[in-house]
Amino acid sequence: MKAVLTGGAGFIGSHIADDLIDKGVEVLVIDDLSSGSLSNLSKRVEFLNLNIADRKLSDGLKNFKADMLIHCAAQASVSHSIHAPAFDAEVNILNGLKIMNYAMESGVGSYVYLNTGGALYGEPQYLPCDEQHPINPISPYGLSKWTLENYFDLLLPASAKFTSLRLANVYGPRQDPGGEAGVVAIFAQKMLNGEDIKIFGDGDQSRDFVYVKDVVASVIAALETGVQGHINIGSGEQTSVNQIFEHLSSEIGYTTPPIYESEREGDVRHIYLSIEKAKEDLGWTAKMNLEEGLKQTVNILRHR
Ligand SMILES: NC(=O)c1ccc[n+]([C@@H]2O[C@H](COP(=O)([O-])OP(=O)(O)OC[C@H]3O[C@@H](n4cnc5c(N)ncnc54)[C@H](O)[C@@H]3O)[C@@H](O)[C@H]2O)c1
Repeated sequence: MKAVLTGGAGFIGSHIADDLIDKGVEVLVIDDLSSGSLSNLSKRVEFLNLNIADRKLSDGLKNFKADMLIHCAAQASVSHSIHAPAFDAEVNILNGLKIMNYAMESGVGSYVYLNTGGALYGEPQYLPCDEQHPINPISPYGLSKWTLENYFDLLLPASAKFTSLRLANVYGPRQDPGGEAGVVAIFAQKMLNGEDIKIFGDGDQSRDFVYVKDVVASVIAALETGVQGHINIGSGEQTSVNQIFEHLSSEIGYTTPPIYESEREGDVRHIYLSIEKAKEDLGWTAKMNLEEGLKQTVNILRHR
């Protein structure tokens, strides 16, 4: 089996690459390294350092003859999307359409798209949000990610299989602690460095934190089962930012209180996802508990 994996030098994509290779899949990673890093990239993948929109990929994908496309590459920051919505749309919609098109032309039969579940439903009308919850993104990022999901639904041939995994807040090793997203990586690295921690808002805002290896398992389950549709992937649990701060403080032995600042635009107050559909359709459930996942993330950051 052969897979084209976009964004395979990034946080989630690099873990997907590792697991696919362990399963004997031949992997071609396409990544322009705009936020990803060569240090994440397995030596066992074929790598093209290209933008997903690059025309060279038209021939590149025809020559590679992949069975599947896993589309992870994205502008993945909510706050960046607010400051630069046109760039966000260019990467997440237009460039996404181009790689989708190259894949269709090359005869790819299965498509997995890493969508957002956290930024899609907007301020929830009920919790946990299931896949039927009205879609009402409050950031350009949520809108652009959702738009590409619709294009996949509209444009893929009837013979192709398509799964959109709507991910909650993913955390774990290799998440960029220097980025703007990824509260776990940012807090943990700052605590290890002995730096102050800023919390936007009162810290009671809650999220659904899912471990990166559990997300990888959901991608593999989607590919192996061939189940189609839009499926939430999360822990199914609600955790506040203050709770994350407390767990990490006690794990690291950090004693400085956080500095509370004004809320950030584009962030919802509370969100967590219903994962019933993932259980039923994919036979998937999150296995890692939060405390253990945080511990493993901290251990890896400590030894970097
Ligand atoms: N991290 C999360 O909590 C989370 C939650 C929901 C959904 N997602 C989605 O999962 C996917 C992966 O997110 P991540 O957290 O690993 O982000 P990431 O920034 O670590 O990875 C994205 C990768 O895509 C690459 N990339 C970006 N634009 C590109 C382009 N035009 N051409 C080629 N490569 C390009 C980057 O260099 C990077 O390696 C994204 O689609 C994101 O929207 C992430």
